Amino acid sequence: MKRVAQALSLVIVFPSAVLCVFGRAGNIFMFFAQAYSLIPGLVGVIIRAAFYKLTLRSCSLDCAIALGTYFSSREVDVGKDVWIGSFCVIGRARIGERTQISGHVEIPSGRHQHRRDGEGYFLGFESNEVVIGRYCWIGAGAVVMANVGDHTTIGAGAVVVHDIPDRVIAVGVPAKPVKSSLASGVGRELATLEPKKPLLRRRRVAPS
Ligand SMILES: CC(C)(COP(=O)(O)OP(=O)(O)OC[C@H]1O[C@@H](n2cnc3c(N)ncnc32)[C@H](O)[C@@H]1OP(=O)(O)O)[C@@H](O)C(=O)NCCC(=O)NCCS
Repeated sequence: MKRVAQALSLVIVFPSAVLCVFGRAGNIFMFFAQAYSLIPGLVGVIIRAAFYKLTLRSCSLDCAIALGTYFSSREVDVGKDVWIGSFCVIGRARIGERTQISGHVEIPSGRHQHRRDGEGYFLGFESNEVVIGRYCWIGAGAVVMANVGDHTTIGAGAVVVHDIPDRVIAVGVPAKPVKSSLASGVGRELATLEPKKPLLRRRRVAPS
């Protein structure tokens, strides 16, 4: 049933993917990305995955992207079983498999988009890719401007300006590691299990 819905969604979004030249026509890509972000419920989740499958650098069909969330660049890789909550805006990024991103997270393309010359004028636009590892959990409202290692948890409201290593919990502004993500039990299941049985067998709850 799921595979049928995914196949149908690919057919539905195909014309829009062609119109935006599979993500390469930036303004048209943004139009459809924002339009599809407004479709509620499971239908929206399946439609968005199909659209991004056809337009991003790579995107698993088995991802869940909630209401109000969109990618502002096609230079994105989204791994298998990634969940992204509501109202996130994501620029150039690589998101590893099974990572969970809570609502209202911003991932701009790095930190220095608008550099200035000596007189204060802008020098053009600079963007950098942000890499978020596998099995990460990014808390609500975080702003992620640097890389996050595998199995790492970023606390709600954190601002990540320096790279954060694997397997830690990092919180605050600027985000700093405060402990191992394995020791506390928080995220322990996600951090330690290489799923022989898929973790997502458990009942699916839409990301908030
Ligand atoms: C980081 C988090 C996972 C807590 O992990 P934890 O292992 O229980 O950590 P603790 O509660 O022991 O906190 C460790 C320290 O970090 C601080 N801290 C925890 N979360 C914080 C946050 N989001 N921002 C700032 N500081 C935080 C704690 O106050 C504590 O500091 P202290 O020892 O000086 O008191 C949790 O606080 C969090 O932010 N979760 C995200 C929830 C969320 O966004 N859910 C959305 C739906 S999925």
